[in-house]
Amino acid sequence: MKHILDRLDQRRARARLGGGEGRIAAQHKRGKLTARERIELLMDHGSFEEFDMFVEHRCDDFGMEKTKIPGDGVVTGWGTVNGRTVFVFAKDFTVFGGSLSETHAQKITKIQDMALKNRAPIVGLFDAGGARIQEGVAALGGYGEVFQRNVLASGVIPQISLIMGPCAGGDVYSPAMTDFIFMVRDTSYMFVTGPDVVKTVTNETVTAEELGGASVHTVRSSIADRAYDNDVEALLQMRRLIDFLPSSNTDDLPEWESFDDPDRIDDSLDTLIPDNPNKPYDIKELILKTADEGDFFEIQEAHAKNIVTGLARIEGRTVGIVANQPMVLAGVLDSDASRKAARFVRFCDCFNIPLLTFVDVPGFLPGTAQEYGGLIKHGAKLLFAYAEATVPKVTVITRKAFGGAYDVMASKHLRGDINLAWPTAQIAVMGAKGAVEIIFRADIDDPAKIAKRTAEYEERFLSPFVAAERGYIDEVIMPHTTRKRVSRALAMLRHKRLENPWKKHDNIPL
Ligand code: HXC
Repeated sequence: MKHILDRLDQRRARARLGGGEGRIAAQHKRGKLTARERIELLMDHGSFEEFDMFVEHRCDDFGMEKTKIPGDGVVTGWGTVNGRTVFVFAKDFTVFGGSLSETHAQKITKIQDMALKNRAPIVGLFDAGGARIQEGVAALGGYGEVFQRNVLASGVIPQISLIMGPCAGGDVYSPAMTDFIFMVRDTSYMFVTGPDVVKTVTNETVTAEELGGASVHTVRSSIADRAYDNDVEALLQMRRLIDFLPSSNTDDLPEWESFDDPDRIDDSLDTLIPDNPNKPYDIKELILKTADEGDFFEIQEAHAKNIVTGLARIEGRTVGIVANQPMVLAGVLDSDASRKAARFVRFCDCFNIPLLTFVDVPGFLPGTAQEYGGLIKHGAKLLFAYAEATVPKVTVITRKAFGGAYDVMASKHLRGDINLAWPTAQIAVMGAKGAVEIIFRADIDDPAKIAKRTAEYEERFLSPFVAAERGYIDEVIMPHTTRKRVSRALAMLRHKRLENPWKKHDNIPL
């Protein structure tokens, strides 16, 4: 009997070595952990159960029959994160560069099917060069199977991708269909094809970092939601993110004990808005002072900084926060900000996460660059996302809510449940100067008249009260009571039920 048990131990030990000690050392030298080391950090200690450790590829082209490595380049299984079930697959770069074969794909699709059937989040740790070139169409077929499952699981269970090495082909397209993509700075790259192929096809010389490094994708392309300095930090932050998420679209939000008084008053908020309405202030101060324990998991913090999106908790329950940021471009809505916020709003709505919106927006950004870039369609994405969302929607207007942007930002007209305004709110079609110059064009050469008209306009329209008189604002609140008012609103809305008319799916302006 003993020798049978020993044989199992030996086979396991061999599988755990993946591509061998040399390649593990090379992985470490590049500052990267191995697939199994990563899973150990992601999961609760000792909770990981591995599947399909002995699976090998079945390819016998290009001499592949001589190199069969148990596990075939991906480690799969399940475990827990702070006690909650999570499925995981981690690409093993030490085995054929983590590339995907037919059998490798079957290991992943097994985990995807289990995650969907058991309604639990799935995390993919990517460090891989796409379809295994030696397998040809069998590998492409394998990716197709993975992609199909990504799509079916979308909106049902959270899917999270962490890019931890050079990733190409299917190893970027599958992540692109998941809810979030995170990267590790300096060691991870995402591209459809790597620099060598780029050189061959387009004669462009480009480094991996320039083509698809973390700064490219977090700042410019917005494909990645955040980047971290190393594997350890990234994995620990994934644990933090999972704590915010429900296990599926039919599960309750996780509830964590909060040590922060929901009625907490913050007097400093009464002076957050500067006297000069054109002076910026940091909306993140309001977010941090409203959230439980100031804990805010920001999504896409480096892209379209004129809008802030992220997850926080109020009374221990997750809430999605969207906030215009007056510090950047005066908080204006442009194409990038609209797309960023629209995607976040739709994510929250999929998973029944209430939306808290802080509004200080001077309008949509005018100009040819924006119009040629499709501002109408991109702005419509955010409008559409807020309008279709059925989760509890609580909105607080702190200062400007001008023009179409007033409507868009979770206004009462888009089924905002509780719409609050600070006394400093200015809800109008536009600012006083622009408005007066249009409606009193005949007086334009008379500065005294224009000044008088401007003062009248400011007095009448640049306040929350015209909207409050119509019931578009439920109440004008003292800034220092914001957390208390938001907590109470969310508590009241906890059992909100609202359904949109049946449809196969909507046709959001993509
Ligand atoms: C088989 C692969 C591989 C692949 C890497 N390897 N990618 N083997 N199929 N796709 C192997 C290498 O041969 C090498 O083996 C080992 O993995 C490490 O790779 P290196 O090139 O030495 O590493 P590095 O310099 O870090 O470069 C990593 C890389 C590069 C950027 C990922 O390997 C690369 O560009 N690979 C090809 C990417 C690609 O074009 N894939 C096909 C995508 S098409 P040895 O034994 O020499 O160490 C696709 C279709 C999906 O995925 C459909 C999408 C819609």
